[in-house]
Amino acid sequence: MTTRCAIVTGAASGIGLSIAQGLAAEGHDVVIGDLNEENGRDAAEQIGGSFVKVDLSEREACRNLVSAAAERYGKIDILINNGGFQYVSPLEDFPEDTWDTMLRVMLTAPFLLTRYVWPHLKRQRWGRIVNIASIHGLIASPNKVGYISAKHGLLGLTKTAALEGGGFGITVNALCPAYVRTPLVEGQIAAQAKTHKIAAEQVIEEIMLKPAAIKKIIEPDEIADLVLFLCSDRGRSVTGSCWTVDCGWTAQ
Ligand SMILES: NC(=O)c1ccc[n+]([C@@H]2O[C@H](COP(=O)([O-])OP(=O)(O)OC[C@H]3O[C@@H](n4cnc5c(N)ncnc54)[C@H](O)[C@@H]3O)[C@@H](O)[C@H]2O)c1
Repeated sequence: MTTRCAIVTGAASGIGLSIAQGLAAEGHDVVIGDLNEENGRDAAEQIGGSFVKVDLSEREACRNLVSAAAERYGKIDILINNGGFQYVSPLEDFPEDTWDTMLRVMLTAPFLLTRYVWPHLKRQRWGRIVNIASIHGLIASPNKVGYISAKHGLLGLTKTAALEGGGFGITVNALCPAYVRTPLVEGQIAAQAKTHKIAAEQVIEEIMLKPAAIKKIIEPDEIADLVLFLCSDRGRSVTGSCWTVDCGWTAQ
């Protein structure tokens, strides 16, 4: 098997960490780019990869992440745009600075990183980009305007890049998960329990999983498995697609 060099953003935690572990377990060189230095370094050490501290809201930091990976491994084959965060507030109170940061981290950074890795992928006529969007890239919910706008935009970036990469052996796909068991979601469960004055289990069963056909929270390795498929040669004909992993949430 060919050893690939993969950049995974936001891999100090949650879904990104699981993807980084999966890619490393398949023998690939993994570069974790994250704001959280302590967890990022620990994760890189655990998987035998590298860590680059990056604030995805900053253009120069994105550029530096790609050049550091290319310098360390001599090539880049795979980019996983995963880093992100949630902020909940009614639209009329939504802080303008938070809106700016959300779009920079979850839409502009994936664009910039795609742009910066593009010449590497194009030159070798092989590349894989997977964007971790959300079911909130496809549908909306109230009070998450920054997140939902960024994730809808990310699907547009995915499809455009797929069309431009097709002739160069580059595939670009997005994943649209519902609730995945990570610190991001644990925070949402705790916040909802406080707001509604109910137990965490009630939040999960009565609020979060209400629209889902399969009543379960998704595990991070389920997302990682799909990413591994898309990054392998088995996924060579899959591009421009937005895969829902949502327990049937958006089927209705
Ligand atoms: N957990 C879910 O239910 C769920 C569902 C759908 C989509 N997603 C998406 O999956 C991705 C990962 O989410 P998660 O649940 O694993 O969250 P998480 O909070 O566990 O991990 C997110 C990681 O992103 C990093 N990050 C945040 N802002 C950053 C910045 N400015 N620069 C660099 N790194 C930054 C954090 O440090 C953290 O390590 C996000 O894009 C999220 O929108 C999550």
